[in-house]
Amino acid sequence: MASEQEVAAVGKILVNPKQHLTTRFRALFTLRNVGGPEAIEWISQTFVDDSALLKHELAYCLGQMQDERAIPTLETVLKDTTQDPMVRHEAGEALGAIGNLEVLDLLKEYSEDPVIEVAETCQLAVRRLEWLISGGDQNGEEGTDGNPYCSVDPAPPAQRKTVPELRTQLLDESLPLFERYRAMFALRNLGTEEAVLALGDGLQCSSALFRHEIGYVLGQIQHPASIPQLQAALALDGENAMVRHECAEALGSIGKEECMKILEHYRKDAERVVKESCEVALDMLEYENGTQFQYADGLLRLQGEQ
Ligand SMILES: [Fe+2]
Ligand SMILES: [Fe+2]
Repeated sequence: MASEQEVAAVGKILVNPKQHLTTRFRALFTLRNVGGPEAIEWISQTFVDDSALLKHELAYCLGQMQDERAIPTLETVLKDTTQDPMVRHEAGEALGAIGNLEVLDLLKEYSEDPVIEVAETCQLAVRRLEWLISGGDQNGEEGTDGNPYCSVDPAPPAQRKTVPELRTQLLDESLPLFERYRAMFALRNLGTEEAVLALGDGLQCSSALFRHEIGYVLGQIQHPASIPQLQAALALDGENAMVRHECAEALGSIGKEECMKILEHYRKDAERVVKESCEVALDMLEYENGTQFQYADGLLRLQGEQ
């Protein structure tokens, strides 16, 4: 267990814009693992930063922690139109992930936000909460379990179907986004090469939010069959920065030699969020390929300084 002083020392690294971004990311993941009200407080204080990448990750972590004490902060971020759409999107998604029904009205309101990524996120979060109200996993649907990644997802996986059936559901733009997300998470849970290639086809779909989520799940699966499609999306002129960011991170989590070369190239990208994603991804790879004991090493680093 970390003491309050240790949490504060890691928190001070997170909030400090003079620290290197990769160090701050490590501090963030340490706080996420530690949890509790002080960790939430430090994370909440960091929403004044100017890195959209860092702030979207703050919101993501608060959602994954599923602690209701983070709700007021996330509501403020969702409502704050001066925040980057990517950050507001992640705040909306986190409110859905926490699963408290008190935010349902707010999410319904922002389902009509003029920023399409924010609106679609809130529509999905509303559907997820309604699914929870209807009994969630307990409502007798078969095959909706089996997430091997321990993530809290914006939609439950679809019921058991074949890959071609799921692919059709994934790519059918006449279906509600929630149903297409359900196919996405079912394909992710299968994780076969066929499923990975079907997911990669989703990178051509019209919704940027949907494409970014495809990048996210391909990063979770870490299957090298997705490298060409991820690279193509990252290279695509005019592609939404949120999508390119997620593809860069996915290449980082796949972590092959060729992925590192791609990331080295885009580390100089003109789009700040893409550039920073490459930096953070390369730092994570350094950890995975090296001798460092722990990626979220905020506490260990403190000991080294004593
Ligand atoms: Fe996201
Ligand atoms: Fe992201």
